[in-house]
Amino acid sequence: MSVPAEIRRRVEALRKEIEHHNYLYYVLDQPEISDAEYDRLMRELQELEAKYPELVTPDSPTQRVGAAPRKEFGEVRHEVPMLSLNNAFSDEEAIEFDRRAREILGVEIIDYAVEPKLDGLAVSLMYQHGRLVQGATRGDGYTGEDVTANVRTIKAIPLHLRGSGWPATLEVRGEVIMTKEGFEKLNAEQRRKGEKIFANPRNAAAGSLRQLDPKVTASRPLTFFAYGLGKVEGGTLPDRHSHIMDRLREWGVPVNREARVVEGIEGCLAYHKAMQEKRESLPYEIDGVVYKVDRLDWQAKLGYVARAPRWALAHKFPAHEEITRVIDIEVQVGRTGALTPVAKLEPVRIGGVTVSSASLFNQDEIDRLDVRIGDWVVVRRAGDVIPQIVSVVKSRRKGRLKKFRLPDKCPVCGSPTYRPPGEAVTYCTGGLYCPAQRKRALEHFASRRAMDIEGLGTKLIDQLVDKGLVRDPADLYSLTREQLIGLERMGPKSADNLLAQLEKSKSTSLPRFLYALGIHDVGEVTAQTLAEHFGSLEALMSASEEELMAVPDVGPAVATSIRQFFAQKHNRDVIRRLREAGVHWPDITPKKPEELPLAGKTFVLTGALSSMTRDEAREKLRQLGARVSGSVSRKTDYVVVGEDPGSKAERARELGVPMLDEAAFLKLLREHGAV
Ligand code: IVH
Repeated sequence: MSVPAEIRRRVEALRKEIEHHNYLYYVLDQPEISDAEYDRLMRELQELEAKYPELVTPDSPTQRVGAAPRKEFGEVRHEVPMLSLNNAFSDEEAIEFDRRAREILGVEIIDYAVEPKLDGLAVSLMYQHGRLVQGATRGDGYTGEDVTANVRTIKAIPLHLRGSGWPATLEVRGEVIMTKEGFEKLNAEQRRKGEKIFANPRNAAAGSLRQLDPKVTASRPLTFFAYGLGKVEGGTLPDRHSHIMDRLREWGVPVNREARVVEGIEGCLAYHKAMQEKRESLPYEIDGVVYKVDRLDWQAKLGYVARAPRWALAHKFPAHEEITRVIDIEVQVGRTGALTPVAKLEPVRIGGVTVSSASLFNQDEIDRLDVRIGDWVVVRRAGDVIPQIVSVVKSRRKGRLKKFRLPDKCPVCGSPTYRPPGEAVTYCTGGLYCPAQRKRALEHFASRRAMDIEGLGTKLIDQLVDKGLVRDPADLYSLTREQLIGLERMGPKSADNLLAQLEKSKSTSLPRFLYALGIHDVGEVTAQTLAEHFGSLEALMSASEEELMAVPDVGPAVATSIRQFFAQKHNRDVIRRLREAGVHWPDITPKKPEELPLAGKTFVLTGALSSMTRDEAREKLRQLGARVSGSVSRKTDYVVVGEDPGSKAERARELGVPMLDEAAFLKLLREHGAV
C-alpha cells in the first residue's frame, strides 16, 4: 500500500513545525505554543508514523529516543583536542591575563566575548551537511566516549541545522547541563525510589548523559548551550567568536543568552560582577564567567600553553559550598507521620545567606553520608534550593562519634515508629493520636470519600484543635452546640448543620470507615478490597501479616502498615470510642473465592484500554475471582485485546483462544456489576 501524498505532506509539515517550536523554545527562549499543544503535534506525528512506518526517518523528532541500550560506549578521537581553560580566582589574576595578552599582541585594548561558565559537561556534536552524525564526551580531551544516541534524546540539540550556509563538516562544542529545577525534581524522585542521589546538577548531568541506555538519558531534564567549535571543513565562517555564536544561533543551535562582547578587562570585570549578582536567579548553575579574545586572528596569534588557550580565561565565582559542623540531628514529624531528620549546623555563610540547618531526608541518606553528630560536613546551597549536605569530611572526625539512627519512638507522641519494607521513609504509628498528625488525620477522616462530614473543613478543624476541643476523630462526636457556637464564623444555624452532618455520618460503610482511619498506604481501593475480603472490622483487626498478604494487591508494605496501626492501643481506643458514639456499618458477607462469578477462569490482558488502566482491569477481574496471567497458553480462557496489542494477540489467534475487545470486556464486567 503506498502512502497517500497528503499524508506525506502532513508528516513533513509536522516535523517542520515541531522543529520550529524547538527552535523558538530552546534557542530564542520565546515559545509560541503551550506544552500541551506541542505534545499534540508530537502525538499526531507518532500516530501517522505508526500507521505508515515507511515514512519514519532517523532524524524525525519522534526518533530521538529509540536506540537500544549498549554494553559499552565506543571511542571517539577528537581531531581538534578539547582543551581546558586557565582559571582566575581574583580580579588581579584576570588583570594579569589581559596584560599579557595585550603585550603579546602589542595592542592597547582587546574586545572580549564574555559568557557564563556553565557547570555541566563538555560535549562535541558533529554535523555533516547539516545533520547531527555524532555526539561525544570530552574524555581526556583527545579521546572521548561516543554518546550519539544519548545526545539525540536532548531536545535542545538540533538533529539538523536550520537555514543554509553551514560548512560541510561542523563540530559544535558546548555544555550539556541540568537546570536547577530539573535537578531538584530528579533527586526528589530518586530519593522516593531509593535510588542514587546526585550531589549537584553537574554530577546529575554527567550521570544522565553517560548512560548505556539512552531511554534513561531521555527521561532526564537535560539541555545544551554551545560555546565554540572544533573541526570545521568545507565552508567559511565569520572572523570573530561572537559572530560565530550568532551564526550558530541562526542555525538553530542554542547559545547562552547572557553572552556579550565587552571592551577591555574593565568590561570583563563589570560583567563578572553583574553575573555574580544574577547567579542565583539563573535557572541553571554557573561557576564563573569565561573571557575570550573575540578576534580569531588574535586568538591564533596568542595560541596555547600546555593544555589551555592563552586567549581565554575562566574567572571563577566563590564556591557554593562551605565546611561546617553538625551540632545536632533533630527529628521532625510531618503531618503524614513521616519522620524527617534535620541536621542543625554551626551557622555558616554560603553565597550571602546564613545556613544553620540542612535536611537529611531519611535514614538511607544518613547511612549513605555516614553523617554523625559532631562531624564536619561540606554543605551546599544553590539558589533557592534547600541546603544539602554533600559529604562528611572524614579526615576531620575526631574520636568516636556515634552512628545516628532514627528513634524507634515518635519524638512527638511516643508511639513506636516503623519503616514499611521497601520504603525509604520511617513513620510514626500514632496515626489517630499523634499531635503532629492530628489536623491532617481529622481532615482526612471528614473528607467526602471518607466519613463525608460536610462543613468540617480545614479552617474549622484548625480552630477545634487549637482550642483543645478535639484531639482525635472520636472527640468530634461529643461536640456540643454551645462549644460550636463559641467558634469564629459559626452561628447557631451552621452549628446545627454540622451536628446534623455528624449524626448522618455515623451511618457509614466498612470501606469508608477503613479509608477514614487514614492508615498509611490504605487508599480507597485497598479499603474496599480489605472490607470485601474480611467482611468485618474485627476480622481485619485480628488478621496476621500473612493473612493480610493473601488479599489481592496487599504487599508487605501495606500489610505492615495495617498491622502496625491496629497494634497501637491509642488507635484501637479511638475506634472503640467511635463505635460507642454510634458510628456503625453493615458487615459484608465475604464471598468464598469459588463462588465468585469468574472463579477458575484465566485472563490475559494485552494492549491499552481507553476506559481504564491495565492495573484497574486486572483488579476488576481479580475481584470477580478470575486469575490474570502474563502469557497466553492453551489454558487461557480469554485474551482482552486493547489498542496496539502485542504479540499476545497473535499467540491467542494461533491457539484459538477467544478474544474480547474493549466493548465485549466492559459488557462482561457490567454483567457482574464490576463497572
Ligand atoms: S570554552 C579551549 N566556554 O569549562 C577551551 N568552556 O575548563 C574551550 N565550560 O571543558 C572551552 N562553560 O566544559 C568554554 N562558556 C564556556 C564554558 C566552558 C563551561 C567548560 C567546558 C570546558 C571547561 C574548561
